[in-house]
Amino acid sequence: MARIPVVIDTDTAQDDCVTILLGLMDERADLRAITMVAGNVSFDQQVANAHTTLNVAGRLGSVPVHEGCRRPLRREWESAENVHGDGSGGLSMDLDGVHLDPEDGVDALLRITAEDPGEVSIVAIGPLTNIASAVLRDPGFAARVRSLYVMGGSNNGRGNITASAEYNFYVDPEAAQIVMDAGFDDLVIVPWAPLTLRDATFDRATYNGLCSLGTPLSDFFRRMCDATIDFDESVGVDGSTHPDSLTLAILLHPELVLASAPYRVDVETASTLTRGHSVMAWSTFDLTPNATVVEAVDKAAFLGLLRGLLATPTRPDRPVSGL
Ligand code: RIB
Ligand code: CA
Repeated sequence: MARIPVVIDTDTAQDDCVTILLGLMDERADLRAITMVAGNVSFDQQVANAHTTLNVAGRLGSVPVHEGCRRPLRREWESAENVHGDGSGGLSMDLDGVHLDPEDGVDALLRITAEDPGEVSIVAIGPLTNIASAVLRDPGFAARVRSLYVMGGSNNGRGNITASAEYNFYVDPEAAQIVMDAGFDDLVIVPWAPLTLRDATFDRATYNGLCSLGTPLSDFFRRMCDATIDFDESVGVDGSTHPDSLTLAILLHPELVLASAPYRVDVETASTLTRGHSVMAWSTFDLTPNATVVEAVDKAAFLGLLRGLLATPTRPDRPVSGL
């Protein structure tokens, strides 16, 4: 089976790093680049998290890492450090000689999709600032993207940073709406609620099983995700949440999807109270759909995919203190 060319656009903390591991190691993935966007944690911490992730997989320097937008289009950046800590559990490594690709992340998105028009998919698992910037810079960008898989919003369900908004759409709602209106032929949305909370959240016992496989990746997973599962449980979420890795997983393994449907999706940008709220209108409302929203996935199969990934032995390129 031919590998799927993909760029991961990420705010590089916790499950974002699991997504990068999946992109590096899944036999169906052809990971072309990593583009970073302001989100979860400080940008410099994101850079460290990205390289540490590549390093633990034994792939340091094997995939270009590009810095994208360091702040939302219009709003002030708001972190999720209260949820994820630094996003890699305090791990550190010698980054001497490790460099970001000098090309801007948005330019990289434009170039990579222009070099292979219609062939490259993008998995966007942070605020959509980079994607929206690419649309604004080049109106032909959307038509060149094979598929855009977005982790964001909630499908008529609860938010996580506010009662009504999911973090990625909340941080840059203007960017999210630009993307919803951009005319991507295959826009697939993986929402926070109800999908992630039901089908991509693993309880503490299951989580502990993923953390005790005796491999560098399993140890790394525990360090990255401990802060987030602690936060999740403190706010009534029963376990470790993995919406980002699910988003890439269903691009690579569409058989994981048990239910999806066409929706018209829009994002609140005017209201303070409901900033970033995703309005996902199903067919009853007779609106022209702009996205496919994933409604259910095979949780056991997804867990098996993650377990197989984390059980894979790797030899980190450089020592990581704390592992
Ligand atoms: O709301 C969940 C999303 O916000 C995930 O992508 C997580 O990494 C954070 O960015
Ligand atoms: Ca993310």
